[in-house]
Amino acid sequence: MPSFTNFLRITRKKFEFEQGKRRSVMKLKEALKGILEDNELKKLIASYDIIGDIILIRIHPDLESKRVIIADALHKIHPRVRSVTAVPLYSYTDKLYRTKDLEVIWGDENLETTHKESGCFFRVNPRSVFFSPRLSYERMRIAKKVLHGETIINMFSGVGCFSIVIAKNQPRTKIYSIDVNPYAYEYMKKNVRLNKMEGKVIPILGDVREELKKLGLEGVADRVLMPLPEQAHSFLPFAARALNLDKEGAGSVIHYYDIAQGRKEDGLFKMSFKRAKDILASALENSLRVEIEEQRIVRSVAPRKYHIVLDLHIERTE
Ligand SMILES: C[S@@+](CC[C@H](N)C(=O)[O-])C[C@H]1O[C@@H](n2cnc3c(N)ncnc32)[C@H](O)[C@@H]1O
Repeated sequence: MPSFTNFLRITRKKFEFEQGKRRSVMKLKEALKGILEDNELKKLIASYDIIGDIILIRIHPDLESKRVIIADALHKIHPRVRSVTAVPLYSYTDKLYRTKDLEVIWGDENLETTHKESGCFFRVNPRSVFFSPRLSYERMRIAKKVLHGETIINMFSGVGCFSIVIAKNQPRTKIYSIDVNPYAYEYMKKNVRLNKMEGKVIPILGDVREELKKLGLEGVADRVLMPLPEQAHSFLPFAARALNLDKEGAGSVIHYYDIAQGRKEDGLFKMSFKRAKDILASALENSLRVEIEEQRIVRSVAPRKYHIVLDLHIERTE
């Protein structure tokens, strides 16, 4: 459990992040008042991501012809930005690597950049790897839960952000960080060096379903991270086999991400929890207790559709 001071710190960080986002949204709407028609302003998706010195903004199909005007306004608000890039609203997302098609509207075509978050530096190129600055609060939330000396497996580590933020906060940990995308793996190696996390964050290239067994990582983990919300459920048996459930004491934790549909107030987490519990029970032949340590909405992805996380506490019962 995080201490009260940690709780206050991460709550303040979340509040500042949300406030900053709200200010940027207001600024863009104001900058475009009188330039875009009122009905166009209504279609403007005014929240956007800043990754290092790159802006990523989703553009409504009806505003395609206004892309350059929008980019110009963004550049005025953020003069140090090097590229403004459009993510078409219904753009294709690569199923395996979770990358999106990006189109530079203004500035440099080279989207490789360095993003700073929670005192860590991440080299990324959003064209070839998944990266979301919107997960910064979630990364810190997990990092604050990690205890001294834990062995952790990050099953879908991307360029290593969760792993590096954890290792920065809790240096006495070992985090096996697996990704199947060779570009993400190369950036992860760079980021491990950049943040001086050699020996703490161990980059591994490959499909987690094969690598865990091949590298003898079954039965070793105090904690498993599964940040692949669309598909994490199908990897739960592998996460279960990675856990060290035979140690004395505290049990193990899986940070299980999922996509949940429904109304917030109607037991949004129930279905996800039931599915996860059933899969885990059959993977470990029912000899375990699974409880929710914490549950939260990470973000909303569409009307009544949420990216959620369940922190599952798991113990053997016999
Ligand atoms: C949503 S991204 C999360 C990346 C990272 N955790 C982050 O938050 O920046 C999911 C990642 O899982 C990786 N991935 C998908 N299937 C995989 C598999 N079978 N084994 C290992 N990695 C996989 C993708 O390449 C992608 O980088």
